[in-house]
Amino acid sequence: MDNRVVLAPMAGVCNSAFRLTVKEFGAGLVYAEMISDKGIVQRNRKTLDMLYIDERENPLSLQIFGGDKETLVEAAQYVDKYTNADIIDINMGCPVNKIIKCEAGAKWLLDPNKIYEMVSAVVDAVDKPVSCKMRIGWDEDHVYAVKNAQAAERAGASAIAMHGRTRLQMYEGHANWDILKEVKENISIPFIGNGDVETPEDAKRLLDHTGADGVMIGRAALGNPWMIYRTVEYLKTGRLMPEPPIREKIEVCLLHFERLLMLKGENIAVREMRKHASWYLKGLRGNGKTRNQINQAETAEELRAILNELVLETEESENDSFSIQIG
Ligand SMILES: Cc1cc2nc3c(=O)[nH]c(=O)nc-3n(C[C@H](O)[C@H](O)[C@H](O)COP(=O)(O)O)c2cc1C
Repeated sequence: MDNRVVLAPMAGVCNSAFRLTVKEFGAGLVYAEMISDKGIVQRNRKTLDMLYIDERENPLSLQIFGGDKETLVEAAQYVDKYTNADIIDINMGCPVNKIIKCEAGAKWLLDPNKIYEMVSAVVDAVDKPVSCKMRIGWDEDHVYAVKNAQAAERAGASAIAMHGRTRLQMYEGHANWDILKEVKENISIPFIGNGDVETPEDAKRLLDHTGADGVMIGRAALGNPWMIYRTVEYLKTGRLMPEPPIREKIEVCLLHFERLLMLKGENIAVREMRKHASWYLKGLRGNGKTRNQINQAETAEELRAILNELVLETEESENDSFSIQIG
């Protein structure tokens, strides 16, 4: 890794189009969105498409999830053999019911023995390094963060990333950085801290507070790869770079869109881009009208036209206010 800034895995977001865009903003490591072990084992077309990695993205960690040892191992072997991922990550943090019911994701947090057993089985079956991403615990009565991390380490995991919330918290309340610090102090493999990093200064605070080797950024990077670049720069030099001008935001949004088009085709890309575009345009004055237009766009042509029009409108209004100031 060139630096300590890591893009978090985010389902429905972290495909190759987004990851590559974030990578170009300097991320030291990018995680792919979680991928179902069963989907891989059954050679589901959509799942296999999710394994695509552009070589410019490396180093990359590809995350799988599952509840059965057999299919998890088989899926890991497939990723090991047939993808250019650098790391195989195992999800033990996903809080949603559908995943928990399959004995996957955050369900493991209740049982360090299961973590040991599953991680050992995967580590023994593959050549690539294996890492784990977990939450601090199931609920506040079951916070086995240190035990769970140690179990993964004993099983041969090469790194651990931890989100400072319990499963019960979902995304509510605050991430507990004290527990992340405790975990870091009790393991010797690389540790990546995660949760509630909204600004470059937060990233530095998390690293200072926990002693973590890396800082993982999720929601703050949505529609905002500049967050990665600004964090890398801030950690390196202490300089806080300005937020980008709107023209640049839209240009990167369009670049992201073109990549999504290549990856998924027009129909899906136009629909998926709706949420990304609204993240890119967040905070822009009067963006409601544009958002509505984007939500109704059906073709790539329409979507490009709406975004290009927005650049023109923004520049006109900037020129107007400039001429008022100098006038
Ligand atoms: C839309 C979304 C999708 C997510 N998908 C995954 C996932 O696939 N695998 C995973 O381990 N965590 C997933 N997470 C959790 C994030 O990786 C991260 O742990 C969490 O958002 C906290 O970090 P943040 O405060 O920087 O957002 C997801 C989070 C969001 C918001």
